[in-house]
Amino acid sequence: MNIITDLTRMWLTRSVKPFLFQNEFDQQIPYDKCRRMGLYIHIPFCKTICNFCPYCKVKYTENVCNRYIDALIREIHMVGSQTNGKKTVTSLYFGGGTPALAADRIDEIIQAVKEHFVITEGIGVELHPDNVTVPVLRTLKNAGVTKISIGIQSFQKKFQSVLGRKAVDVSTISDVLLKIPFETVSMDFIFALPGQTFENLKEDINIAFANGANHIAVYPFIDFTFTDSPVQTMPKKQKRFLLDAITNYCLEQGYVRSSIWTFAKEKNALYSSMTRDCFLGFGCSAATLLQRQFKINTFSVEEYCRRIDQNILPTSLTLRFTPRQRMVYYLFWTAYSTEVDIPAFEQFFGVPLKKMFGLEIRAAKMLGLITEENGVLHMTLKGAFYYHYYENFYTLSYIDKMWGILRKEAFPKQIKL
Ligand SMILES: C[S@@+](CC[C@H](N)C(=O)[O-])C[C@H]1O[C@@H](n2cnc3c(N)ncnc32)[C@H](O)[C@@H]1O
Ligand code: SF4
Repeated sequence: MNIITDLTRMWLTRSVKPFLFQNEFDQQIPYDKCRRMGLYIHIPFCKTICNFCPYCKVKYTENVCNRYIDALIREIHMVGSQTNGKKTVTSLYFGGGTPALAADRIDEIIQAVKEHFVITEGIGVELHPDNVTVPVLRTLKNAGVTKISIGIQSFQKKFQSVLGRKAVDVSTISDVLLKIPFETVSMDFIFALPGQTFENLKEDINIAFANGANHIAVYPFIDFTFTDSPVQTMPKKQKRFLLDAITNYCLEQGYVRSSIWTFAKEKNALYSSMTRDCFLGFGCSAATLLQRQFKINTFSVEEYCRRIDQNILPTSLTLRFTPRQRMVYYLFWTAYSTEVDIPAFEQFFGVPLKKMFGLEIRAAKMLGLITEENGVLHMTLKGAFYYHYYENFYTLSYIDKMWGILRKEAFPKQIKL
């Protein structure tokens, strides 16, 4: 599997140089010149830990959570005070873990962010279905949150028990959402679970849109090597059938495909922290992507708080891109939105996209993976499947390796991918 990602990386970057992440970092972060930058905040606490979940999280205790949030606010001030005046950013997303467990401190965190940044496209928070209550949603809304995303996974008991989660009470969720509306209400589902059919997924999608969601994310199940989930992955052919069937069904219903795995009922219902040119991440395991570097914070809550106590950034690893590596990284994540804007690439890198990747673009068109219209490359259904397929490889060979190491070692010496 690694051979595929290695060869693709060598071919696209025209170099045998691996992505080299090292245990070093800039205490002054060069984000001043980044345009269209997003913010991400990680809150790593959950009431119960799901055995299939790869994210950085620990069991919730009020004490540790409060100590962590004190440190988080200090990290925001440490980084935010590095520029003069307030920097305009697109959005702020809270992910986890289960950030809504800290609902009563979200306002304080947002106020800290607003001392340094102006947010133009809203604030999103991830919730576990148990967090969907009137008091929690009211607290979030009063703090300025405009988007929520609820980790449903499946409305069907059978698949919740495959995942080791309890059944979701859709009527409670629907009632609460009617009382406290948000601009975007997204619901997360997992597909390609053993025995799951298109009919099962269609029912989930219909229930979601009929009960308060205006956006859904349907993620393929990924079996990370470091998790101890007993769930078997579905064969590639069956997965492709499901992804195509979900996509066709959503498009027939008039929903907009906002990225490979997300669909919106209304055009401006958006929930994505991925498709930004640059982003700043705060909290443990949060990543930061800038013009020339990618860096990732330590996964250890303890070490994170210790570094902040010493006024040192909690960065674990930094990757300093070669120009071509950065272009490949840009294209990979921009393509997640199913399209690439040709002039935007040139504006970001100062060189035309077709000068750098003309051969690849011609080949992708010939293979029916992309089409071009008014300066935008659009992924076809076939292209979206292969992207999804490659993303799976990428996740299993790059993210799996990196997160697997970072979960065990707070500050590894280096990681080569
Ligand atoms: C941080 S959780 C969402 C909020 C909340 N913690 C919850 O579980 O309800 C993010 C989402 O990642 C997805 N996810 C987690 N583990 C996954 C896996 N192994 N494969 C695919 N999707 C996964 C789930 O859909 C989950 O809702
Ligand atoms: S899926 Fe959600 S609740 Fe479960 S462990 Fe992961 S972050 Fe926590």
